[in-house]
Amino acid sequence: MNYDSKFTTHNIPEISRPDGISEKTKYTFSITYTDQHSMDYAQFAETTRDIIAREGNVLAPYPDPQGDLNLRNLISERLASLRGIKADADSIFISSGAGGAISNLINIFLEPNDTVLVEEFSYSGTLGMLLAKKANIIHVDSDENGILPDSLEEHLAKLKSQNITPKFIYLISVFQNPTGITIPLDRRKAIIELAQKYNVPIIENESYADFRIDGDPLPPAMYGMDDTDSVMYISAYTKFLGCGIRIGYTVVPDIVKEELAKTAYNGMPSQLASMAVFNFLDKHGYKHGLEVEQSIMKKRDAMLTALKENFPDTCEWNKPNGGLMVWLKLPEGANSWDILRSAVDRGVKYNPGGVYRADREKNNYLRLTYSYNTPNEIHEGIKILADVFEKEKLI
Ligand SMILES: Cc1ncc(COP(=O)(O)O)c(C=O)c1O
Repeated sequence: MNYDSKFTTHNIPEISRPDGISEKTKYTFSITYTDQHSMDYAQFAETTRDIIAREGNVLAPYPDPQGDLNLRNLISERLASLRGIKADADSIFISSGAGGAISNLINIFLEPNDTVLVEEFSYSGTLGMLLAKKANIIHVDSDENGILPDSLEEHLAKLKSQNITPKFIYLISVFQNPTGITIPLDRRKAIIELAQKYNVPIIENESYADFRIDGDPLPPAMYGMDDTDSVMYISAYTKFLGCGIRIGYTVVPDIVKEELAKTAYNGMPSQLASMAVFNFLDKHGYKHGLEVEQSIMKKRDAMLTALKENFPDTCEWNKPNGGLMVWLKLPEGANSWDILRSAVDRGVKYNPGGVYRADREKNNYLRLTYSYNTPNEIHEGIKILADVFEKEKLI
């Protein structure tokens, strides 16, 4: 069989990737894996076995295209108590991770050449999906509180003058990936007002909301702050319970629900995984949350200490109150993209800043995740990384 010209080029983003990014390394600071050290797999096995013994017969037919009702009810309760969102199970779609939720929304919104606004740095997976759809991606300038309303308005007004209405604004509003930023209440209000004024909906991705460690309580989700159907909400239990379990969800206003329902069966997640997630969260969710918090606090602290011990004052990094990553700024002109290969050869992997930009620029930044390795390994890996950067004259 000759497969020349048979494969579609749609769905594959035209985008460069740094050398070494796909290799396995001992010190993996490049991916937000689930923190395996806080997950009790014996408990997970028990609650999964229990629910299959009790309700296994529901696995025979195809499930509800919106996903397991028990899980949707539980999400509805958790969102009301933790994130200020009032949404009943009917407005919730279970998906294959947050990635599945993003993909489902992109599929109902985007035509080639549509414009989408994202933060100065945004999650690489979403950028890939947008680029595969040939979207015009605009990165909006951001500061330590998230995207700048002035800059957002400037873009929206300019686009309007060109008769372009962006399809949506995509934001990771809590412990942002990759910068760790949480958008405070005032800034949220300002962004929602602009979305309403220019008739551009917001997709709010809260994949890291379950990972608060310390600091101020989280502001409410933007979804609950808006009463004009301007916000769609995405989150997931992927990082909380297991990347291999990969259950996420979307909460949408009725008007979007009707559209999403037309394609929901395409990306239906596993009913078995949904049932397992439901029963574990129902029985042990709160306790697991505390264990995650304790474990990632130790790992975050290990990374911050190791950075302080090994990196010079010419570098800056944030001290996140939650989430799974530290955002590091190297001196101007340093290029972490080109040096990744040398780090990987020494067993350390990170993500260069350009990975979070459609234009692949701003590589004097890099993202370091701390969820995978132990605190000791984090110390070892950061020491090696500093040595690589010193030898390569980045720092
Ligand atoms: C902000 C954000 N959204 C979505 C995803 C994809 O998550 P999932 O594995 O739940 O599909 C990630 C994974 O890193 C992420 O950081």
